[in-house]
Amino acid sequence: MTTTAPNVASDIKDLALADEGRRRTDWAERSMPVLRQIRERFARERPLAGKRLSACLHVTTETANLAVTLQAGGADVALCASNPLSTQDDVAAHLVKHHGIKVFAIKGEDHDTYYEHIRAALAHRPDITMDDGADLVGALHMIALNRLDDLAPPVRGWVETLAPRERKALVAGVVGSTEETTTGVIRLKAMAQDGVLQFPVVAVNDSETKHLFDNRYGTGQSTLDGILRATNFLIAGSTVVVAGYGWCGRGFALRARGAGANVLVTEIDPLKALEAQMDGYRVASMAEAARVGDVFVTLTGNIHVIRLEHMRLMKDGAIIANSGHFNVEIDLDALRGAAQGPTRLRELVEEWRLDGKRLYVLADGRLVNLAAAEGHPASVMDMSFANQALAAEYVVKQGARLGRDVHRIPRELDREIARLKLQAMGVGIDTLTPEQRKYLASWDLGT
Ligand SMILES: NC(=O)c1ccc[n+]([C@@H]2O[C@H](COP(=O)([O-])OP(=O)(O)OC[C@H]3O[C@@H](n4cnc5c(N)ncnc54)[C@H](O)[C@@H]3O)[C@@H](O)[C@H]2O)c1
Repeated sequence: MTTTAPNVASDIKDLALADEGRRRTDWAERSMPVLRQIRERFARERPLAGKRLSACLHVTTETANLAVTLQAGGADVALCASNPLSTQDDVAAHLVKHHGIKVFAIKGEDHDTYYEHIRAALAHRPDITMDDGADLVGALHMIALNRLDDLAPPVRGWVETLAPRERKALVAGVVGSTEETTTGVIRLKAMAQDGVLQFPVVAVNDSETKHLFDNRYGTGQSTLDGILRATNFLIAGSTVVVAGYGWCGRGFALRARGAGANVLVTEIDPLKALEAQMDGYRVASMAEAARVGDVFVTLTGNIHVIRLEHMRLMKDGAIIANSGHFNVEIDLDALRGAAQGPTRLRELVEEWRLDGKRLYVLADGRLVNLAAAEGHPASVMDMSFANQALAAEYVVKQGARLGRDVHRIPRELDREIARLKLQAMGVGIDTLTPEQRKYLASWDLGT
């Protein structure tokens, strides 16, 4: 449904869900003390005053707290979903009704609606964009490079109605952008490398207070949560195959082991594989793992990590899920071509019959932690979104001085977020004594 609240044209499921969205957003806010402090400062200082900000993020309770923080800083915010399945419709309604934020997101939206919503966020004509997976920035660059055939039809149709001058102004108007996730940062670094990046981007994912915690502990816990909610499967005693031993994979392997699984890791990087082996996991190729796994989870950011040749080797009843950013890690097209099905057994569980065996694919291969559970807990998103809010401020303050490259927020801001988080957790740490400071700075004090 298209909703019109005072002066706000949005596209959300149902405005009547707003009060439930407010209650749940308030619950998340209790676990976001760092973002709260930033919001209070933003309300006083208004560092984003007069700026239009378009964000393409998972529309969750934590994102709602970020959106309100950006608004407190003076930004005119438009929000669309960064995944068709991750929107919490009550949260979308809350932002529209209680905060007058423009939201374009409906859980389960089809491909065209997803891109119609991206179009709406672009039509907001942002000064700043905020992405989780580089969809907004990607579209802006296809416009800048006049590669209109690479745009999804709803975006292309709209861009074709714009005069060349307006297209130019749309891209030139962006002072800078921020990016939340590994996959988006990889794409942006490739753009910078090819010399096509049109404006500076702050890689929020590269902050230590982001990937060390969000990717590891957030994805670790919420991926397990998503699998459990989707299937109610007993993890204890099962064999869980974790594809990718990066930040997300390490976190998920840890949680799966904690729940009693025998964890098997697959990797393509010898260092990461060695680390997994020494962390006490079994390491094998996917072809080997495929024969023994009960649950398979991809967390690589890569394409076709689980292919038909692997699925043919799997046991009857194997469960396959993805927690990497895009739904490309499992080759579902090949499965569709070779298997019978799907039969929907539970809300996010589809059964396929391949060579007489049953395989269960969760959430259509999309981020299982967001599709089947609620994404990361608020406490960890507190740090990720503190980084996003500070990155937006950094872009406004430094945008003109930053080159067309991928930047990270300064290390002192990263450390400050960690300091505030510790403070909120009531954890005290030591500080260097003058003697220690001198010792660490000298090279002549030894044995
Ligand atoms: N589900 C979530 O909420 C969530 C949160 C953060 C990040 N992500 C996404 O998860 C993905 C992984 O992120 P990360 O921060 O762990 O990245 P990372 O770069 O730290 O780790 C990815 C790992 O996958 C490995 N890999 C690549 N191709 C592989 C293959 N074919 N087989 C096995 N391993 C392979 C790499 O060697 C690397 O160790 C990205 O797409 C990221 O955007 C998801």
